[in-house]
Amino acid sequence: MPETLRALAADREFDVGAAVAAAPLTNDLEYRTTLRREFSMLTTENALKMGPLRPAPGEFDFAAADAIVGFAEANDMRVRGHALLWHRMTPDWLRPWEYGGDELRALLRAHVQTVAGRYRGRIDAWDVVNEAVADDGSMRETPWYDAMGERYLDRVFEWAAAASDADLFYNDYGAEGLGGKSDAVYDLVSGMLDRGVPIDGVGLQLHALGDRPDPDDVAANIERLRDLGLDVQITEMDVAFPRESAPDDPLAAQADYYREITDAALDAGAGALVTWGVDDGHSWVRSHGSLPQKYTADPLLFDDDYEPKPAYAAVNEALA
Ligand code: GLA
Repeated sequence: MPETLRALAADREFDVGAAVAAAPLTNDLEYRTTLRREFSMLTTENALKMGPLRPAPGEFDFAAADAIVGFAEANDMRVRGHALLWHRMTPDWLRPWEYGGDELRALLRAHVQTVAGRYRGRIDAWDVVNEAVADDGSMRETPWYDAMGERYLDRVFEWAAAASDADLFYNDYGAEGLGGKSDAVYDLVSGMLDRGVPIDGVGLQLHALGDRPDPDDVAANIERLRDLGLDVQITEMDVAFPRESAPDDPLAAQADYYREITDAALDAGAGALVTWGVDDGHSWVRSHGSLPQKYTADPLLFDDDYEPKPAYAAVNEALA
């Protein structure tokens, strides 16, 4: 019987994680069993996003997040909170953004204080801001940017640091390897460090849907971010192929890529690799818009029956 991912990762002082949803955590024994056996870290998949968390102004529904964080504590797992600020999955009542700039700023500050403060000492790493950089490398123009200006991340990280003792991460997609967007993220976090902003790390999402960043480039990017003194984690990995151009053996190709990224993460000194879900059956690629029609919709390490896939064996071998 080979060792579990979490046992092997512990030997490497590394974490292997998965994004977790409260419903299967509550209803599905196999989901719980797999999670606690194989993973040392979990991310709150949707439960702490502002939309699901805040059904009405002034109201917070912490039930799902509490269940996830409680499970992690009971099973000695680290927790990534996701995310204090994101421009998507915002509450209906906040749209269509009829709040004034000062109101939005006050609302966000209170949100960060309440949410980060509630989990002080229980959440190990927060994605403080998710996806603030646009695909062309400019700052994404969101209502928060409009309300608070170019340097709004500085404030959000300061508020998070005041409310929380977690490591504070900036998290994004499309900035995993080398290129314009990852240069922009590098510049963004370098500037924050120069200004004394309390940022501890960068999360590289790595949703490999068609595009698979070169593992050598990912390693080089991790290294340059670590040279700034930052922690780096792979935070949302999944691997799917466009159905039109899928390789002959998609599960083998998927395993190869998981292996290469695990090797790159370990070699370059990343602290964790988190997959965006536990099993294929609960992956967002299965349920999100036209994704299941466009992509091979089995992007994770465990199949629908929680059987380990070739990708699982590849990550296991890389850790060993
Ligand atoms: C982004 C977000 C995640 C999740 C994924 C997939 O990467 O950061 O919270 O929503 O998309 O849906």
